[in-house]
Amino acid sequence: MPASKIASPYDDKLNPDTVRKEFPIFYSRDWGKYPLTYLDSAASAQKPKIVIETVQSAMEKHYANIHRGIYKLSQESTTSYEDARNTVANFLNAGSEYTAVFTKNATEAINLVASSWGRNNLNSGDEILLSELEHHANIVAWHILAQEKGLKIKYVPLKKEAKFGLDIEKFQELISNKTKLIAITHMSNVTGEILPVQKIVQMARNVGAKILLDGSQAAVHLDINLQDLNPDFYVITGHKLYGPTGIGALIAKTDILNSMPPYQGGGDMIENVSFEKITYKSAPARFEAGTPAFVEAAGLKTAIDYINSFNRETVHVHEDNLANFAIEEMQKIEGITIYGKEVENSGAIISFNIQGVHPHDAATIFDQMNICIRAGQHCAEPFMLSRQIPATIRVSFAIYNTLQDVENLIIGLKKIKKLLG
Ligand code: ALA
Repeated sequence: MPASKIASPYDDKLNPDTVRKEFPIFYSRDWGKYPLTYLDSAASAQKPKIVIETVQSAMEKHYANIHRGIYKLSQESTTSYEDARNTVANFLNAGSEYTAVFTKNATEAINLVASSWGRNNLNSGDEILLSELEHHANIVAWHILAQEKGLKIKYVPLKKEAKFGLDIEKFQELISNKTKLIAITHMSNVTGEILPVQKIVQMARNVGAKILLDGSQAAVHLDINLQDLNPDFYVITGHKLYGPTGIGALIAKTDILNSMPPYQGGGDMIENVSFEKITYKSAPARFEAGTPAFVEAAGLKTAIDYINSFNRETVHVHEDNLANFAIEEMQKIEGITIYGKEVENSGAIISFNIQGVHPHDAATIFDQMNICIRAGQHCAEPFMLSRQIPATIRVSFAIYNTLQDVENLIIGLKKIKKLLG
């Protein structure tokens, strides 16, 4: 379908060409013959100028350590850090039951829960329920804990056929009163499948299990309302939300956080330290030992303010339209298998393979055209094992992508087919 025939969902604020100009990566260097086609935002999103400027200004004009100085500059820096925390909590509609703890990314947030809550609440024979769609971040920490404590990990399987997704019905079969934790992605980083997490939270509640949702991708593409979803733990990462690297968050029920022992020890997380005894602050400080990433937190706040400056529904429609257009065009090319798109709900991430072409070879040709896609296992080897494939090609869409990007992708695909297919 020619780009011009796509119904335009854009309002004045989301003119994709204007939005693109807010991201310096697209114009701050000479890309030569091929303009940059960035289709790897699920790995990490590009940064708007306003975020880059915030990070620079935090270091240039406002820099001082937080929570420590009795001088104005430090107090300014502290206020900015705590504002960023409120921004994260509000962004997820966290409400008063939840507290946001800053971590370096979603992986650290999951490790925090595993090391602190998991180590203190799970015992030999207890079961953790994961799924075959999980990112390694939501597998490895549990595996380490399971080995240490004699826990059993069960995986909700994918349906047999590649076009389908997770076998949601199997959840109920695998949950029992031995299940003490369900840890599950809200939106798959491989296929974009969006799981019915509200239902899954209810299943966890029915057997008294805790539930952790990995919102690394979902927080970018969906409106999250933690008060409605009601998980015990929700994790996000800043760099996928157009923010800096090195900042993420665990948003958890405050009473659970305050029942958990510290994850790491150091400055700023203690009440008193004597030679005999140490007492700890409540959450969030209890879990933020040492000087935190307050410059990055300021950048994340600006990134979230930037996202909030758009009508989010319009952004979702824009990203989904691009993904649907790409799928439609890809389906016209022979020998392409698209994974997990015939599901109830799915977002702007597509994984696929081209018959007879290794994803890494395809990536090399795409790269010659300045088309950035991800090829490989996407930190999700269980998905590949379950599908019995070595890897996939993945494209993912963000606010700055345009129909031209999809057209470039399709031109690249046709070239790959001609050269290697
Ligand atoms: N989690 C990131 C991805 O899916 C790195 O690519």
